[in-house]
Amino acid sequence: MRIANVGYALAGLALVGFSTAALAEVNQGSVARGGKLYDKWYKVVGVDAPTVSHPLYPATNEKYAADPANNWRCKECHGWDGLGVDGAYGSGSHKSGIKGINGMAGGDPAKVVELLRRDHLFGDKLSDQDLTDLANFVVYGQIDWTKYVADKKSTGDVANGQQVYETACIGCHGAEGKLPKDMPPLGSLASNPWEVMHKVLNGQPAEAMPALRAIDHQVSADLVAYLATLPAQ
Ligand code: HEC
Ligand code: HEC
Repeated sequence: MRIANVGYALAGLALVGFSTAALAEVNQGSVARGGKLYDKWYKVVGVDAPTVSHPLYPATNEKYAADPANNWRCKECHGWDGLGVDGAYGSGSHKSGIKGINGMAGGDPAKVVELLRRDHLFGDKLSDQDLTDLANFVVYGQIDWTKYVADKKSTGDVANGQQVYETACIGCHGAEGKLPKDMPPLGSLASNPWEVMHKVLNGQPAEAMPALRAIDHQVSADLVAYLATLPAQ
């Protein structure tokens, strides 16, 4: 049944444009690009990673406090789930203890741009377009995880995920998710459904991988559920 729904969703996009208010509000390409910047902005804009740590990163996490290539990434402070201290990065090896970005979902994009430019010190690193895309991601792109993840697993439909995988992903990633060769097998990423769904929705920084952002997010959740069934090594 889900497959039929996907078909209708795609047909709807092609024929009548975005049908839901959420999608119509903002350009989904901008949101997805913002998501890739949130992941690894310096790859997206094509510059070297910073070599001096971000001053907002807490010294209490000694590992990442000493790792500027990671502690300048939005995700390293606020988490793949965007929930910061209230989410996955509230504990464990990536613990940052920092507030999430979810408080600004649905807010004013100009305020986010201002915050990133000033408090976050991105003014000399990112362009106006980059900052706008990030703000669109923060304001319009956040996911209600309770719809798609429970118990650290995607609640999506594995059979539907397989159908989408074997049409849209298999060409680059192979039947078992072990391609391209310089990447961990997709099946090994199952323990982090938030990261995998982020990548599926927004794409992979500096790669030709598509972003599924403009279609029903349930499709991305279904894919994540299927990826968890692929071999981990
Ligand atoms: C080095 C850590 C760090 C990095 C990297 C970082 N932030 Fe933040 N961010 C913070 C801190 C600290 C706050 C302030 C939290 C508070 O007020 O308690 C914050 C606040 C925010 C807020 C406001 C949250 C609210 O409701 O008040 C947003 C939105 C935000 N950051 C987005 C981003 C984006 C987008 C990026 C990447 C371009 C980013 N941050 C990168 C540490 C970081
Ligand atoms: C045009 C080729 C292409 C297509 C199509 C493609 N990908 Fe990718 N994908 C890539 C590349 C290249 C990478 C990054 C590989 C690396 O980092 O070495 C990647 C990375 C990923 C990652 C992140 C892996 C990590 O290390 O964190 C996930 C998850 C992923 N792809 C899932 C998918 C899914 C699901 C689909 C189908 C909707 C898909 N990809 C379609 C090329 C593609």
